[in-house]
Formats: sequence, C-alpha cells, structure tokens
Amino acid sequence: SAAEKGGYAHFMAKEIMEQPEAVRKTISPRIRDGRVVLDDLHLTADYVRGLSRIFIIACGSSYHVGVVSKYSWEKLLRRPVEVMLASEFRYCDPLVDEKTLVIVISQSGETLDTMAAMREARRRGGRTLAIVNVVGSSIAREADDVLYTWAGPEIAVATTKAYTTQLVLMDLVGLYLADLLGTVEKPAYEAILSEMQLLPEKMQGFLAHTEDIQYFASRYFNHDSIFFIGRNLDYAMGLEGSLKLKEISYIHSEAYASGELKHGTISLIEPGTLVVALGTYAPLFDKAMSNVVEVKARGAEVLALTTEPFRERMEKTADATISVPETHPMLQPSLSVVPLQLFAYYVALQRGCDIDKPRNLAKSVTVE
Ligand code: G6P
Repeated sequence: SAAEKGGYAHFMAKEIMEQPEAVRKTISPRIRDGRVVLDDLHLTADYVRGLSRIFIIACGSSYHVGVVSKYSWEKLLRRPVEVMLASEFRYCDPLVDEKTLVIVISQSGETLDTMAAMREARRRGGRTLAIVNVVGSSIAREADDVLYTWAGPEIAVATTKAYTTQLVLMDLVGLYLADLLGTVEKPAYEAILSEMQLLPEKMQGFLAHTEDIQYFASRYFNHDSIFFIGRNLDYAMGLEGSLKLKEISYIHSEAYASGELKHGTISLIEPGTLVVALGTYAPLFDKAMSNVVEVKARGAEVLALTTEPFRERMEKTADATISVPETHPMLQPSLSVVPLQLFAYYVALQRGCDIDKPRNLAKSVTVE
C-alpha cells in the first residue's frame, strides 16, 4: 500500500532514501573511541595471523560487494583475497583448508547457492563469517560467525540499502582485520574511520538534490544498450550500476574495466552509444579522463560520474556530468553507487517498468 511505501511511489525509491539511516545504524554501534569494535566476532589475532587466504563468496549484488572488498581488503591486509560466485565456488574443488577464512555475503540469508557454498567451505575445514541482513536466517544460523547489516527489511527486488550497508560493514571488517595484522598505519586507520562516520551526512546531502539525475534519465531512457566503464573500485561499483539498470529497466547494459575497452568492447562504440564513465576513484582520475576522451573520439555520448573536486575537469569533455561528495577513496563506492541506483530507477520509471517486481526475478533465490 501507499502507507507501507512511506509516501513513495515504489519501495525502491523509499529504500534508496533510507540509506543514510541504514548506513548509520550499521556503522555507529561498531565504532567506539575511534576504534572498530566487533563484539560478536570471535576471531583471535593468532588465528587471523595464521590465515593463508580469504575467500569472499556470494551471488548477485552481494557478489558485487565482494568484488569491491577484494580490492580494498588486499590493499589493507596484504593477503590474498579471492572473490567468487557461490554457484561457481561450490563445484570448483575450492582450495579451502583450516587456514582459510570464508566470508559469505547475503541480504536474505536464504540464497541456496550461497548456503551450499558455505557448507562446502566448512566441510573442507574453513571458518565462515556471514554478512547478513535478515536476522536469524539460515545462513546466519549456520555460519561460524555472523555480523548483521542493519538495513532493515528490504522489499524491492533490486537491492539498494542492503548493498550499501554490506559495503560499509565489509570496510569495517577489513579495517578490523588489518588492525589485528598490523598492516594499516594509524593515521590511515583513523582517516578512514572518521570519513566513514561522515558518510550518512554526505549521502543525505546528495539525496536532497537529485533533479539532474532525473533529467539525465529522461534524456537517455530510450537507449537500447549502455556501457559502464571504470577502473579499480569504480569498475567494481560499475558492475552493480549496470546490474541495477538492466534488472529493472530491461536495457542491455554491461560493465567493463576501462583498460579492457581496446581489447574488444570499443568495437561496439558507435556515434551516439551511451557510455556511463565512472571517475570517482581519485587515485586513477586521470586514467578515467583519458578513457572518456577515447570513447568520445568514437562518437560515444558520455554521462560521467565523478566527485565534486573533479567536476570541472570532467565537464570539459563529458556530455553530462553528475558529481557526488568526496570521501576516502576506499569508501567512495558507497556514495558513488547512489546516483547509479537513482539513474536506474528513473530510467525504469520513464519506461513504465514494474520497478519493485521486475519480470523473472525473485528477491531471494532458494532453488539452484
Ligand atoms: C537475488 C536478488 C538479488 C540478490 C541475489 C543474492 O537474485 O534478486 O538482488 O543480490 O539474489 O541475494 P542475497 O539475499 O543472497 O544477497
């Protein structure tokens, strides 16, 4: 009903707007006196130091969180972190032993492939830590450890607030492990944590003015194929931006690592092709810019996403530019993904799609 949607036309819109609060609830109980506190996690420093590898296993958008975390955790922990789709992991004879920590990420806690992958990991002697939203769900009950995202109930099939809370919780866990391992310098640890606490406010500020995204959606909703390009964390986040768009608007879309363009994809760029160029990862902004120039030269229409400090430079080349507040590069995806969610939402709205219940999809997939 309209009341359940809190006055919004769709659960997805309501849940997008709930993100500042969901992120705040997920992080604030876990930061005390400038330190990450994870009381419900039972990993000793000795165990963590003895780890030979870490796997991150999930499906769908939860897997996309894992792709982001692989980049940030390896940078923080200086340990191999492998991210794998649950449906692939379970049948690949995975290299898991007693020195392997397996993180499983699931909003519902009921996804069958993720559950089966977790069981396979435990059977091989791995220790499992589940990042779950639904309290008391099957995956939460079976994992060795569980940490909850406090996103609250998510109704729309296309996940938004579960994704962002998973991201920030994974960032917290990464920092916590890095601290145990001694692989993060104190100033970096403190800078990331203090930026993290500013995220809800920055998200809120951004969500107060989204007219430009609505406008760009009305300009581009008729495209039948869209490419998302980015590097590093922007690439990882682009996977989610692209999935969001295709699942609710039914527009064919793909996410590519920008450096791979010239190895094939660029042949698909013709005059007028829409490219969503992600340039929010500050350390690689110049590389992002040169990829914009590269696709512009082939006639692409470029909708760029960057952070406020880089907006002016991006605007000189891109056809349209959206900017988000800047934060620590490691945390940037949790802010940068918000306009991509909104873009998908408004495009689907323009196309008259059933936004909260896209065809053929289910909120939780409990069959193989
Ligand atoms: C379904 C949903 C996706 C979700 C995926 C994994 O396909 O439609 O939005 O990302 O399952 O779900 P989970 O509950 O395990 O995060």
